[in-house]
Amino acid sequence: MKKCIIVYESNHGTVEDCVAKLKNQLKYETEYVKASKFHDVSRLADFDLIIIGASIHAGSVQSKIKEFVTKNQNILIDSARMGLFLCTLSDKEEAEIYFEKNFSPEFLSKVECKGLFGGTVHYERYNWFIKFMMKKITKSSEDINKLHEEEITNFAQYFNK
Ligand SMILES: Cc1cc2nc3c(=O)[nH]c(=O)nc-3n(C[C@H](O)[C@H](O)[C@H](O)COP(=O)(O)O)c2cc1C
Repeated sequence: MKKCIIVYESNHGTVEDCVAKLKNQLKYETEYVKASKFHDVSRLADFDLIIIGASIHAGSVQSKIKEFVTKNQNILIDSARMGLFLCTLSDKEEAEIYFEKNFSPEFLSKVECKGLFGGTVHYERYNWFIKFMMKKITKSSEDINKLHEEEITNFAQYFNK
């Protein structure tokens, strides 16, 4: 069976949930690891598919993801097939810009499939400050689930072909 690794970061669990959904749908032997915990980058050569997953906070992906991609850009570009997905609450048209804003054109040109999986708000996962901020931004104290399950499935199916 082909092998896949998902390298990700997640502040409050949405990306992590998407990683689990992808793992279930990919026809690969799939492992996953946080970018901040992945040190043996020589292992990247062992995989047929590398997926990077991150989320948007104040317009940016996690610095650990930026660092991982920048540091290992040459290895990533020379290695396996590449996928990239983002979790964000923005609408799709608005969210497209986050790819160019956060990743280099060289890296993006190697990415075969880019996914925008949507986002969530789970108040019980936040500290008081983020709760306060998110209530202001969303003008609601209700949880939000804007996860695009069909995008996750399409993304997995793209690489399963
Ligand atoms: C403090 C904070 C800032 C955020 N800023 C943005 C933003 O600038 N643009 C956006 O589209 N979504 C923004 N979001 C929404 C997140 O991208 C969304 O909640 C996502 O599901 C987070 O995934 P994670 O919990 O795996 O990190 C923000 C969320 C929080 C909590």
